[in-house]
Amino acid sequence: MRLDLTGKVALVTGSTQGIGQAIAAGLARAGATVAVNGRKADGVAATIESLAGQGEFVAAPGDVSTDEGAAQVLAAVPHVDVLVNNLGIFGAESPLEISDDEWRRYFEVNVLSAVRLTRAYLPGMTERGWGRVQYIASDSAIATPAEMIHYGMTKTSLLAVSRGFAKFAAGTGVTVNSVIAGPTHTGGVEDFVYQLVDKDLPWEQAQRQFMREHRPQSLLQRLIEPEEIANMVVYLASPLSSATTGGALRVDGGYVDAILP
Ligand SMILES: NC(=O)c1ccc[n+]([C@@H]2O[C@H](COP(=O)([O-])OP(=O)(O)OC[C@H]3O[C@@H](n4cnc5c(N)ncnc54)[C@H](OP(=O)(O)O)[C@@H]3O)[C@@H](O)[C@H]2O)c1
Repeated sequence: MRLDLTGKVALVTGSTQGIGQAIAAGLARAGATVAVNGRKADGVAATIESLAGQGEFVAAPGDVSTDEGAAQVLAAVPHVDVLVNNLGIFGAESPLEISDDEWRRYFEVNVLSAVRLTRAYLPGMTERGWGRVQYIASDSAIATPAEMIHYGMTKTSLLAVSRGFAKFAAGTGVTVNSVIAGPTHTGGVEDFVYQLVDKDLPWEQAQRQFMREHRPQSLLQRLIEPEEIANMVVYLASPLSSATTGGALRVDGGYVDAILP
């Protein structure tokens, strides 16, 4: 199976590190020109430098959780064929202590940024009769963690947003899907793991303890590597996935205990 994205332009939000960066690299290796996004121009430039030799990249800095930041990104990349709404923040907070402002911030960063960019880029895709929109959701969309209800809420919302926009784009040649990522080995997650286990443990032990105590449902029994999420995203971005739309596809290491996706 050859996944060929030659001639396509992709935008991956929050791609200066972690899963987003792996997705950006994967799409570029498949032939797409990939717009790298993060809040700061220097961070984006450093990421593009670190990805040298893996394909074509352009810089699209901007805080997409704000109108101004999204406008900056739109100006940098007015034409997008593959939109990957990857940006997402997470962290443990007591459900009884988290403030209203923090709830709003989670909604704006994790949900509204994706809705805003979908509204901006979907019309161009439908006019051209081809496009791919994806949302990076999480096992927390389905199995709400008690220590981050605010985060689970945003990821459940993305599944609804994704399904809704897939219906809106019915029959246009544009597919819209979400990817349910499971616990993945990224820098952000290393910090999160150390919020929940003994800070003095070396990483391998900390990871095992975290999976045993906080994610015992994982059939993989290890964290997922970012490239393993990226592989699904690249497939869904490719012309070969043309009959898959309105779906929520799992790359969760079997974490969600369900037969159907
Ligand atoms: N890691 C996991 O285990 C896991 C599991 C399931 C789902 N997910 C989901 O996968 C996605 C990526 O997670 P990750 O762990 O790879 O994230 P991460 O390592 O924390 O990276 C976050 C990225 O978002 C960027 N960013 C943060 N705020 C931004 C904003 N307002 N505008 C633009 N960019 C912004 C950061 O870049 P700058 O700092 O340069 O701005 C960075 O590139 C998220 O949606 C997350 O919910 C992750």
